[in-house]
Amino acid sequence: MTEKLLKGKVALVTGAYRNLGAVTAEMLASYGASVVINDLDLPEIEKQRDQLLDRIRSHGVQATAISADLSRSDQIRSMCLSAIKYFGKVDILVNNAGPFSMDPYLTMKEEIYDRVMDVNLKAVYLTAKEIVPVMKANGWGRIVNMSAGSAYVRNHSIYGLAKLGVQIITEELALEVGPEVTVNAVAPGQIYESLPEILEIDPTFGERYMARSPLKTLVTRKEVALLIASLCTPAYDKVTGVTLKIDAGAEIWRF
Ligand SMILES: NC(=O)c1ccc[n+]([C@@H]2O[C@H](COP(=O)([O-])OP(=O)(O)OC[C@H]3O[C@@H](n4cnc5c(N)ncnc54)[C@H](O)[C@@H]3O)[C@@H](O)[C@H]2O)c1
Repeated sequence: MTEKLLKGKVALVTGAYRNLGAVTAEMLASYGASVVINDLDLPEIEKQRDQLLDRIRSHGVQATAISADLSRSDQIRSMCLSAIKYFGKVDILVNNAGPFSMDPYLTMKEEIYDRVMDVNLKAVYLTAKEIVPVMKANGWGRIVNMSAGSAYVRNHSIYGLAKLGVQIITEELALEVGPEVTVNAVAPGQIYESLPEILEIDPTFGERYMARSPLKTLVTRKEVALLIASLCTPAYDKVTGVTLKIDAGAEIWRF
């Protein structure tokens, strides 16, 4: 389907045994990249992990899985070192893992605050520390961080704070890691396939969201994955430090 624009590259996608990360990992493989997928070490997602490895390999590239909890700096470090050891390098890093909580601050447990901030935001800094030196030594690297539409509203609690932080660290890192490495972020609006989880909390969320969108639709996992993969292709070689909204226009500010 696609030209193999990423042939010979190695990608590491975090939080990728299922959902958006899995679709992104397969999209990168379809562009010719070999892929390291990461996720938590949970028995209930082992089957999805193994099926994804098979799908990635069906694109004619190599794949491996490294389980690690990205709320733990020791596990982040060992994941990065294992990925680099396995393939000899990492060229593309997609910081996709990003747990969600909209608990009000006054009742939120401190461990939720820490987990949401650590996995969404601190992991961006910790993975960069391990992987950017390798990218720079090889003369090329692409980092894509996951923000979200929640960064633009102020009633999404710690998740919105972490996702706004992702946009800021994206700009800050972009200044630090050039000229070999670019750092960009993607801010999806509500993803169609994840809507059922949100409807359990807020039954009219989907309708309200689509009514705000000039395109009257929600974005799909495949559409977000396509944008992430595209950011690693020559079309975006001169783009760094930006966050691209992909939300069918729902987050355009109005009064
Ligand atoms: N789903 C949406 O509508 C939506 C919208 C905007 C942005 N996003 C962002 O896109 C990314 C992916 O979204 P999703 O809905 O596929 O996510 P998800 O909640 O389904 O999680 C994806 C994977 O991350 C893994 N994960 C969670 N904590 C982890 C940890 N500590 N270490 C390693 N892996 C961990 C989970 O096990 C899961 O398999 C996230 O950063 C999310 O914030 C999602």
